[in-house]
Amino acid sequence: MKVNKKHYRSIWMEKTTVCMIDQNCLPFEFKIHYCKNSDETCTAIKNMTVRGAGSIGAAGAYAMLQEIYSAKDNELYSHLQKAKIKIDATRPTAVNLFYATERVLEASKISEDFAIKEAIAVADECAEHGRLIGIYGNELIEDGYRIETHCNAGWLALVDYGSALAPIYAAYDSGKNIFVYVDETRPRFQGARLTAWELKNHGIPHTIISDNAGAFLMSKNLVDMMIVGADRIASNGDTANKIGTLEKAIAAKYYGIPFYVAAPSSTFDLNTKTGGEIIIEYRSEDEITNITGLHNDKKINSFITSPGSSALNPAFDITPASLITGFITEKGVITDNEILKLFEK
Ligand code: MRU
Repeated sequence: MKVNKKHYRSIWMEKTTVCMIDQNCLPFEFKIHYCKNSDETCTAIKNMTVRGAGSIGAAGAYAMLQEIYSAKDNELYSHLQKAKIKIDATRPTAVNLFYATERVLEASKISEDFAIKEAIAVADECAEHGRLIGIYGNELIEDGYRIETHCNAGWLALVDYGSALAPIYAAYDSGKNIFVYVDETRPRFQGARLTAWELKNHGIPHTIISDNAGAFLMSKNLVDMMIVGADRIASNGDTANKIGTLEKAIAAKYYGIPFYVAAPSSTFDLNTKTGGEIIIEYRSEDEITNITGLHNDKKINSFITSPGSSALNPAFDITPASLITGFITEKGVITDNEILKLFEK
């Protein structure tokens, strides 16, 4: 996607350095963060300098690539086995990370060259899958649609194009008149900070709503469809996504509003049978008790809750397949019953 007329991906490699748009600085500052080795790339995943399932997957693959470049021992496979454990420990929920590291590890059984190619292919495929998700998802969007989305599943989260936002970009670029309701997405505000920044950058009409406003807007017939991304989809279609997604899906079902999950096949985890098996990440309570913003053009971090009270911060929830109208993938739009068939092809 373009920023100031220049094309960027959310993450890329320059020689042995992993380069990424610093998502913790947006929307106040557009800054590139550089990771010289896999430890630095792991830290960037952990502290969410790079975030979003697809971008985390690309970061994991690039961290494996940095390990290949720096490996001193002759036994590449065992070296990468150890590296994979370190990289996988950064964040537990998005399956794209484990998919990516496993893919590079498996490739190393064949040759070092093949492992390098696979590590690079993870990001390229993620971008291409986002483009195709856009094309298929656009077919579901009618002229005049008002679409609600949660969190950030745009190009920042998926290397390029995005998952939930890819159909929105495609619809807008094909001349449809659309409007987007952006859930702010507490506690880290990925919607208010990142999705809004992406949409503004692309010129797409939108407004930010508080996380509590979705059901109200739905009850007033102001939302025609909801599209969200995913961090892991179990083989029965239960979907882990940013905390708050489940509430939106329940409200959408109640008001008869189509609720779509957009995700590339690397987000489907056939080894996980149901959502109950998915590990949910709990993050620091600071993300709830404090917020970062601008004051007189200066970035400040403020304490905003009652001192002495603790805060509980599950970062994801599971939406049961029964609440999901369909899955927009790079191979087409499918229902939960068609997930296994998707992988047979
Ligand atoms: O914790 P994050 O910001 O890495 O969360 C992941 C997400 O961005 C969302 O859950 C998103 O909707 C799916 S990722 C394409």
